[in-house]
Amino acid sequence: MRILVLNGPNLGRLGRRQPEIYGTTTHDELAELCASWGREHGQQVEVRQTNHEGELLDWLNTAADEATPVVLNAAAWSHYSYALLDACAQLEAPLVEVHISDPASRPEEFRHHSVVSAFASKVITGRGIDGYRLALEHLATL
Ligand code: DQA
Repeated sequence: MRILVLNGPNLGRLGRRQPEIYGTTTHDELAELCASWGREHGQQVEVRQTNHEGELLDWLNTAADEATPVVLNAAAWSHYSYALLDACAQLEAPLVEVHISDPASRPEEFRHHSVVSAFASKVITGRGIDGYRLALEHLATL
């Protein structure tokens, strides 16, 4: 099974970005971890990150065309992008939403709503980088 792990804005600085919230694992390390976690389930995992919303929408549209399962951490776009909502609504294969932190328990109110969640077969928050492993594990059970 081929799986796309798509990460949104500012997640390219994982490891250096607010490590007290997001941990010290870099995005490159995350990509390697996801590939090896996926191999355990016979999954071929591709990890991508972008700071450009249109690029994420293009990836999601292709995933819809090809019925590819997606693990999505859309970062801040999760909270306000209706274009992202529309892209998620078109997905044909399962979608798992991941957030490294637990947005619902953070003080900024804008983080308390996600436009992605309604379309996700599972939402994993507050588990750190391990959330991605849990997302791949979930997809393996479907
Ligand atoms: C995040 C949470 C979002 O609120 C934030 O904008 C991010 C990262 C997370 O992984 O915890 O950039 O999606």
